[in-house]
Formats: sequence, C-alpha cells, structure tokens
Amino acid sequence: MSHAAFSSDARPAASADAPVIAPAAPRLDLYAPIHKALRLALTDTLVLVGRLDVQDPGEMVSTLGRLEDLLDLCTRHLEHENTFLHPAIEARQPDGARRTADDHVEHLASIEALRAEGEALRAARPETRATLALRLYRHLALFVAENLQHMHVEETVNNALLWAHYSDAELVDLHKRLLDSLPPAEHLVVARWMVPAMAPAERAGMLQGARAGMPPEAFLGYLEHVRPHVDARGWAKLGRALGIAERPGQAAA
Ligand SMILES: [Fe+2]
Repeated sequence: MSHAAFSSDARPAASADAPVIAPAAPRLDLYAPIHKALRLALTDTLVLVGRLDVQDPGEMVSTLGRLEDLLDLCTRHLEHENTFLHPAIEARQPDGARRTADDHVEHLASIEALRAEGEALRAARPETRATLALRLYRHLALFVAENLQHMHVEETVNNALLWAHYSDAELVDLHKRLLDSLPPAEHLVVARWMVPAMAPAERAGMLQGARAGMPPEAFLGYLEHVRPHVDARGWAKLGRALGIAERPGQAAA
C-alpha cells in the first residue's frame, strides 16, 4: 500500500488559518448536514474495525462490508462535491476550491489503499488476521482524522466563498441539482447516517421535507428505514415534531 496516502499531515490546524464565519443572518449550509452524516459513518465504522473479532467469520463479513460501504459513501460524496460544489466556487472565485480539490485526490488514493487492506484481511490466514486488522484500524483512523480536518475547511473556507458569491436561492438550486442526480438507493444510504447524526430540530426539518416530497406509504417506509438508528429520546422528539404516533405505522394522515 502507499504509505504516502497515510502520511501524517503537517498542515496547520484548520482552525488556525480558517476565517471566523459569523454571517449576519444564518445562511444555507450545504455542507453541514451531509458532513454530520459522514462524521458519524466514519467514526462508527472506525470503532467497528477496532473491535473486530478476526476469528468470527460472521463479524469479518459484516465489519469488512461496513468498511466497503463507508468507502463507497466517501467516494460518492467527494464526486458530488467535485461535480457540483467545486465548479460553483471556481465559477466565481478562480482557484477557490483548489485546496479541497487537491485533498480529494489524496482521499481517493487513501480509499483505494484501505480497500486493498480490507481485501487482504478478508483473504488472510487466521494467524495473520490480527496484525492486518490493527494495521487497517490505524490507517482508517488516519483517514478519519484527515477527513475531519478537510470537512472543517469546507465548512469554513468553502462556505465563506459560497456565501460571498451566491444567494441562498442560488444555493437551493445548486443543492436541488445535486440531490436530483442521486439514485434512490443513495438517498436511503445517506438518510441512514444523516437522520441519526442530526440535532432534533434539524432532523424534524429534514423529515418534514422528505414527507412533502413523497407519497405517504413511501414516507412510512423511509421512517422504518431510519428508525433503528435513532435513539429513543430523539425518536420521541421527532414523533412530536411530525405529529405522528409512537409507531411509524400509525402515522397521522
Ligand atoms: Fe470534500
């Protein structure tokens, strides 16, 4: 594998060179919701890999499957940013997205290296699995760390550029075009991570938007899809916000 993909990054802490963003009025933040989802998926998967029982065949399948799912999610996410957000920034601020675009090139190399490590662990003899699993865990931790810093830059520096050069109405249109490009299965994968990662008011807003955009039966299916991943307290608050009964199947008309 390429160790360069995981070299410890000596860049200054993102908070040290990012402008303080304090818009006079709250602006539409295209990064925050999906990044909350990614932070949950990254850290949850890291913990799973760390506690993997390499002698348990079922757990090997499920955990390495979760790693593959995470890497797929990260790949699609950066592709969406490359397709929609970076061109939007650079259309009005030449080279404005260069830093995070360069990060994406490194992330793709890291993703391929992590895929290879996962495959190597999957194929390894029992006596070598623990060593390979610890190596994978450490490299995944570095990938998580890099992504946490990268997302902070996007939420500060890139958002500052988007807010300076675009109205919220234009950002709504940009976001709609991004969402419309996703296949239905990807919407469900993102919801599985985004809904539990959000604060209750954000979660209620997202689900109200989802309810407005789909038939009632489809919305019930959507709720059932995300419910196992939301804590009981959060689910009760969501139920009150949406005006639905305790069980999704009893949702009010
Ligand atoms: Fe990114």
